[in-house]
Amino acid sequence: TLPVHWARSRAALAEAAADIVQDLLPRVKSPVIALPTGETPIGLYQALARRPLSFATTRFFNLDEYEGMSPDHPQSYHTFLHRHFLDHIDATPENIRLLRGDAPDALEECRNYDRAIAAAGGFDLAILGLGGNGHVAFNEPYDPWDQETHRVVLAEKTRLAHRPNFADAEDVPRSGLTMGIKTLLAARKILLLCAGATKREAMAALLKGRKDDAWPVTCLLGHKDVTVIAEAELQPAL
Ligand code: GLP
Repeated sequence: TLPVHWARSRAALAEAAADIVQDLLPRVKSPVIALPTGETPIGLYQALARRPLSFATTRFFNLDEYEGMSPDHPQSYHTFLHRHFLDHIDATPENIRLLRGDAPDALEECRNYDRAIAAAGGFDLAILGLGGNGHVAFNEPYDPWDQETHRVVLAEKTRLAHRPNFADAEDVPRSGLTMGIKTLLAARKILLLCAGATKREAMAALLKGRKDDAWPVTCLLGHKDVTVIAEAELQPAL
C-alpha cells in the first residue's frame, strides 16, 4: 500500500504539499506540473503564492475541464486556476496550457493537449485531488485506465458534488474533458491530496491496497513515486 502523510489540519496539509512543490522547483530546469481544481488544493495554492518562489520557467497544464464551458465562464476550471493560483504567481502566460472546454472539436482538443504534454516532456509532478466516488481528475468509476486525454460523461455523484457551484441543477455540466489515467501514471511524481469527510470511502478503498476500477484512485497503487497527504480525520479507526 501507499505511505500516507496524515496532516493534522487543512493548513498543515497545504504546507506539506507546498514543501513538495518547492522541493521540485530547483531540481528541474523547466518543471512541468499538472494542476487540480477543487476546494482541497486552494490552501496549497495560497501557500505557494505566499512563498518567495519563482514559477517563471514552470509549465502548467490542468487536469480537467467541464465540456462546453468557455474559459471565461465563472465556473470554468480555467477561471478557478487563474483566480486561486496563476494570477498570484510569476507564471509566464506562454507556459500555461489549460484544456479548452468549449473547443469546437473536443476530440481534436484532447489530441492537441496530449501532443502539448508530450512536447513539454511529460509531467515532473501531477497534483491530484480525490472525488468522493474515487475519481482522479474526471476519470470516473469503471472508465478504462488505458486512456490519455479524453471526453467523459460525469457520474451523477460528481454532478451532485458540483451542484452548489451552479444556480440551477440543470446548469451542472454533464460531461468533461480530462487527462486519462494513462496520462497521470506517466507523471514522474504524483502528489495526491485528500481532505473532507466525503472522501472517507474512497480513502478506505485506496488504503486497502488493491487496484479496483470501481475506485479510480487505486490506479496510483501501480506508480512508483506517489505521495499521499490526507487530513487526519480520514484516518481509518484502529
Ligand atoms: C472535481 C475535479 C477533481 C477534484 C475533485 C475534488 O471533481 N474534477 O479533479 O479532485 O473535484 O474536489 P474537492 O477538492 O473540492 O473535494
